[in-house]
Amino acid sequence: MNRRRFLGTFGAGSLSAAMAPRAKAWHGIVAPRAEQGRARVTVVADEPLGTLNPNILGHFTEHLGGCVYGGMWVGPDSSIPNDHGLRKYTIEALKKIHAPIIRWPGGCFADTYHWRDGIGPREKRPKTWNLWWGREESNAFGTDEFLAYCQLAGASPYFCVNVGSGTVEEAVAWMDYVNGDHATSLAELRAANGHPQAYGAKYWSIGNENWGCGGNFDAEDYARHYADFSTYLEKAAGKSKVEFAACGDTRGDWNQKFFETLLRRPEAYGHIRRVHHLSIHHYFSGGPAVKFTDDDYYRLLASVGHLEGLIRKTAGTIDTYTEPQGPAIGIALDEWGVWHPSAGEGPDALLQPNTLRDALLAASVLNLLNSFGSRISIGCIAQTFNVLQSMANTRGSQMVLTPTYHTFDLFQPHMGQTCVRAAVDSPTFEATLEHGKITREVLSASASLDPVKREISLTLVNQHLIEPLEVEIEIAGLGARAAGGTYRELTSRDVRDQNSFDEPNVISSPAEKPLSASGASFTWTLPAHSVHALRLNLG
Ligand code: AHR
Repeated sequence: MNRRRFLGTFGAGSLSAAMAPRAKAWHGIVAPRAEQGRARVTVVADEPLGTLNPNILGHFTEHLGGCVYGGMWVGPDSSIPNDHGLRKYTIEALKKIHAPIIRWPGGCFADTYHWRDGIGPREKRPKTWNLWWGREESNAFGTDEFLAYCQLAGASPYFCVNVGSGTVEEAVAWMDYVNGDHATSLAELRAANGHPQAYGAKYWSIGNENWGCGGNFDAEDYARHYADFSTYLEKAAGKSKVEFAACGDTRGDWNQKFFETLLRRPEAYGHIRRVHHLSIHHYFSGGPAVKFTDDDYYRLLASVGHLEGLIRKTAGTIDTYTEPQGPAIGIALDEWGVWHPSAGEGPDALLQPNTLRDALLAASVLNLLNSFGSRISIGCIAQTFNVLQSMANTRGSQMVLTPTYHTFDLFQPHMGQTCVRAAVDSPTFEATLEHGKITREVLSASASLDPVKREISLTLVNQHLIEPLEVEIEIAGLGARAAGGTYRELTSRDVRDQNSFDEPNVISSPAEKPLSASGASFTWTLPAHSVHALRLNLG
């Protein structure tokens, strides 16, 4: 096939096309040349990469800053619309994007959390101190409130069990309270607290970042704890179908040591069998949240390439220790997002602005996760409300959706579909990161196929700061041809644009527009710094 490659020489992203006739580095950043603003994506409809787990589009919540108190919980006496104290409009916002899974109660908070503090009559719950995030904890939002929130939002609950300062006994009791279907005192307590039926919560993470805030374990020690917790939690789950996530790490050889320690134990494969997901976390940074330079812009987006390497490394380790003996272990990227410089404690801890740049980063990460097909079993962006790269921020009775929320909205059509290869041929840009120089394609893409509707969903990101990108879209395989469809566009005049309480719709929900393109290939233009979500009918 006569494919053009558009790699090579670039001008600085902040320079005009006319000023960028040849390769030019700009503070370590090399951005694409405008006249090379053409790319190609070939959607190989008959090359499936596995089913995309809807949980990739999941969320993370923690008792931190205004995430739970303010974001999820306002209390039944509040004038802010609520359902038994649960904030209505944030629930509706998550429901609208079909939030598949919500992780709770942390984060670092999880390994300090004692679930019994958060059940029963609220006036009797103890007031405790949030050790990690420096604020009083009323315990008004606990297990039943979390489960009710998830149920209203239509999401699966994903618990994180306290390993660092908790015990197997405490964790088993929590499982009994949530999922127990025997006539135990804890099941009776659950009934007395308003929920006679077992909740049947499926997802349970055994600790959080146990190499750090979750107890400063070494991998061997954590593995032994994992074996203990998972053995008894599985028993306590009874008939409920549960899955466990183990704490992994992308650095060093934690994951190897974890698996090796499990394999050295008696009943080795029994322990490996109880690792359904391996949890890893990744936070991005790239200068200030809003007043970032063009260099910062490219650095942030390029760092998705670093995550790609870490996921490959994690997948390789999983394969080494599990194949061909056991069932596949999914990768749970259950904390990810941009972490801009912000204050670490109090009611506004880790509250940060969210610009279009963050939404582009999210789109590029989600394309990356899709490209791993069924290997990614869970993804939870950090954190859902008022903290880090949130979906929405609240202030008093106001709520504002972030640009990142709209990215999640655009990716919905991929949920549960078959990922197919999207081969990209694109100009590239380079950035110098902490770990060295990295080259990334300006076009980020992923594709999925809905065989029932005979529809292809294609999400495209033009990461060029100032130039549009002309993309030749080719559909290969299955004898398929595009026969019209729709598209949605997420962009804004300035990549530093954001929504605020005063101007909540600077970046609003992208409207769905008709797309008339047809045939086995057609040309599509993406504006600078934009995300497009195409839905193509297959003729
Ligand atoms: O999301 C903020 C913190 O980042 C979480 O509590 C912790 O797990 C991670 O280090």
